[in-house]
Amino acid sequence: MMAREKRKIIITGGAGFIGSNFVRHWCQNYPEDRVVVLDALTYAGNRLSLKTLEGLPNFRFVQGNICDRPLVSSLLAEEEVDTIAHLAAESHVDRSILGPDAFIQTNVIGTFTLLESFRQHWQSRGKPEGDRFLHVSTDEVYGSLSSSDSAFTETTPYAPNSPYSASKAGSDHLARAYFHTYGLPTIITNCSNNYGPYHYPEKLIPLMCINILLGKPLPVYGDGQNIRDWLYVEDHCQALDLVIHRGQPGETYNIGGNNEAKNLDLVNMLCALMQDLAPELPISPPEKLITFVKDRPGHDRRYAIDASKIKRELGWVPQQTLEKGLRSTIDWYLSNRNWWQPLLSEEYQAYYRSVYQS
Ligand code: NAD
Ligand code: TYD
Repeated sequence: MMAREKRKIIITGGAGFIGSNFVRHWCQNYPEDRVVVLDALTYAGNRLSLKTLEGLPNFRFVQGNICDRPLVSSLLAEEEVDTIAHLAAESHVDRSILGPDAFIQTNVIGTFTLLESFRQHWQSRGKPEGDRFLHVSTDEVYGSLSSSDSAFTETTPYAPNSPYSASKAGSDHLARAYFHTYGLPTIITNCSNNYGPYHYPEKLIPLMCINILLGKPLPVYGDGQNIRDWLYVEDHCQALDLVIHRGQPGETYNIGGNNEAKNLDLVNMLCALMQDLAPELPISPPEKLITFVKDRPGHDRRYAIDASKIKRELGWVPQQTLEKGLRSTIDWYLSNRNWWQPLLSEEYQAYYRSVYQS
């Protein structure tokens, strides 16, 4: 077998949920690679999520904004980067409804800044063939499905419905255009909802787990019948790893968990698992805490991913079942209170009130 070439990779958003899992995955699997994390440490970024990697000889953390072109360009040159895994984003739909500005700035302008800096860097180095720009995106760009529609494929037309998904769609189009116009080796991945360790408390699964532990109401939007497809974050990291090593520049790969669930069913499942795994809950059974609240404006009804292309071309299939993945996730939240408790700050409470009491 040919020896694998070492990479010098920048991972943007590496202090976020998927980013920190991906950085850990990369450092564990490719300890000889240079790994530079570029992260602005917004409310969603947390250096504690990378604590086990600090001090490794090939690891460097840079606090900085992807919109800062001089910073990005000098990092690319200084570190002789050949690979960008771009995960930095504003990622929460409810926040995009409260204030879309940051989403346009980071997701659209930030992605443009990275692409343009990388294009100049790549051209100045003679367009090496093995260079990659992996643009990590979401299934939400495809819009909403009804219960009878078939799942999203890579050729489903874009129809984003929230400021978040519209900003991600814009960034996907830029990544695509940089391949077609300049030949920049970009690859786009569109993934379904992730869950697992280091997930910020505002998202459905951690929010419900934490509220069950605190005996607080479990706010289910609308009728609770919206459907999401759930993927364990390590399965996503494995897919991104394969796409970087074996994916075709200019291509898009859909990534999904084959785990569609209605929100209400998922919340009931979490209640049952928490009852099983957590020693003493303040309110038992926790199902008593389920509360239907006002629906999210423009709430997409259903997402579903057809992941047959990545299976066929790269041999990727998710390893984790929903129940097993949820069990590991709950275990992690039970043994890592020191990670999530400080995140329930006054600022977070103000955000929470603005979403759930309006
Ligand atoms: P996250 O919100 O947990 O983390 C985002 C990270 O990006 C944070 O560390 C934050 O500090 C950083 N960041 C934000 N703005 C920045 C800026 N301007 N400059 C530098 N860093 C900045 O997000 P996540 O859930 O880990 O998502 C990662 C990527 O995966 C995003 O692109 C998202 O759209 C995509 N995605 C997420 C999911 C999901 O279920 N979470 C599903 C599919 C795709
Ligand atoms: P979320 O985790 O915000 O991911 P996304 O909106 O990107 O899919 O929400 C997942 C689903 O759960 C979505 O249909 C909205 C719903 N939801 C609730 O019912 N209550 C909540 O408190 C949250 C945060 C989400």
